Amino acid sequence: MSHSLIWDSSLIARYDRPGPRYTSYPTAIQFDSHFSEERFRNAIQKSAQTNKPLSLYFHIPFCDTVCFYCGCNKIVTRHRDRAEPYLELLFKEMAMYAQLLGYKPRVEQLHLGGGTPTFLNQEQLARLMAEADKHFELVFDQPSDYSIEIDPREADWAMMGQLRDLGFNRVSLGVQDFDENVQRAVNRIQPKAMTESVIEAARVLNFNSINIDLIYGLPLQTVDSFLDTVDQTIELAPDRLSVFNYAHLPHRFMPQRRIREQDLPSPQEKLRIMELTTQRLIEAGYVHIGMDHFALPDDDLAVAQAAGVLHRNFQGYTTHGHCDLIAMGVSSISQIGDTFAQNHPDMDNYTTAVNTGLLPIYRGLQSSREDQLRAHVIRRLICDFKLNFNDLEAEYGINFSTHFATEIQQLQEMIEDGLLTIDACGTGLEVQPHGRLLIRNICMVFDQYLPTTQDQPRFSRII
Ligand SMILES: C[S@@+](CC[C@H](N)C(=O)[O-])C[C@H]1O[C@@H](n2cnc3c(N)ncnc32)[C@H](O)[C@@H]1O
Ligand code: SF4
Repeated sequence: MSHSLIWDSSLIARYDRPGPRYTSYPTAIQFDSHFSEERFRNAIQKSAQTNKPLSLYFHIPFCDTVCFYCGCNKIVTRHRDRAEPYLELLFKEMAMYAQLLGYKPRVEQLHLGGGTPTFLNQEQLARLMAEADKHFELVFDQPSDYSIEIDPREADWAMMGQLRDLGFNRVSLGVQDFDENVQRAVNRIQPKAMTESVIEAARVLNFNSINIDLIYGLPLQTVDSFLDTVDQTIELAPDRLSVFNYAHLPHRFMPQRRIREQDLPSPQEKLRIMELTTQRLIEAGYVHIGMDHFALPDDDLAVAQAAGVLHRNFQGYTTHGHCDLIAMGVSSISQIGDTFAQNHPDMDNYTTAVNTGLLPIYRGLQSSREDQLRAHVIRRLICDFKLNFNDLEAEYGINFSTHFATEIQQLQEMIEDGLLTIDACGTGLEVQPHGRLLIRNICMVFDQYLPTTQDQPRFSRII
């Protein structure tokens, strides 16, 4: 498959509109608050009979200070003692799942996200992993992925050493921008030496993979300043890179109100930043995986994409799509087969539910056969940039051109604009270099729920 992409500013500007990132289909806003806890219990028990491997996610919501741009589910507090009671809740939640499953499933993937997972101290992290080990079969050999999000301001060599000893083999570092003025404007002072030290530790300690998060569109960023950040990042040679578009939604995220609108780069500047960033990363040897993600060609994501086995779920792009995902902690989202469930996003409801012995389900969804078909289409498009109609027809017993007649019509404008092609025999669809950066728009055509939700300012824009 060709990884080439062509940047066409006029096309991108024309198609740019808010859209989902499709870490699931249907997306989380379709989840139903009437979805019962009992229903999710049933889904887990049913899945337990299939002996599927697991992916575990733990959400640690605490952060020591607030970064003004942040759109994550977090609790900003200096009170480190808040970690202890939260850990107890995670242990109770874990025990509930273990009891429901009735055996110790193999955990192929484990991820600690946040907030800031290293808000937990070394002893607390060790207890969290020991508790997981008690209930599940943790496997640390390849190809297991045990990863953790690291805020370099919160980690040192001792912490990195302990994480490696606990079995973590991948790290993702929040950097965002190396420019001091930008860092001041977003209240995240992170000298480059801090980031370098954590990366050096990860290399010396033989972590398999290092990811760096950057954000473009932050206040006081210019084309030149961000390219400087990109150049400095390339020098650090991370295996993977996420380059997120800053989603400025101050009506939803209070801290963003502290960002001065006049300091934000203009849409034209953002477009130029992303164009030159993409170009520079590709010149430096990175592969564009899709949806803000880049990886070195020998990284597992790039290898899986080339082999057509890449997957996408709430953890983003992943090579563990065959696992059930059990996510614990406030706001986290689980996926068991085709059933989704999200935990309460607020601490009070989450605490009450767990303490009364209930899975803390806030909302969920059992996807229909039609949802599953469309999820398959969207997943293959977003992961492979192509779609084989025959595979779908065989698996779902449909005729693609009749089932998706309206969608094919809707794709015509994109076909004329060169974003994708449908082959002459009508057996497949392929996204073209002009369409790679607009993959969300192509997926949106297959999203049945969008007409009622697309105009809501819930989604970030594409660029
Ligand atoms: C949970 S944070 C990473 C871990 C750790 N808390 C840190 O900041 O280093 C996940 C990532 O989400 C991204 N992010 C947060 N808010 C964002 C926003 N409003 N728009 C785009 N990306 C955002 C950042 O790149 C951040 O590194
Ligand atoms: S970016 Fe990370 S450290 Fe900053 S507020 Fe968000 S979750 Fe916390």
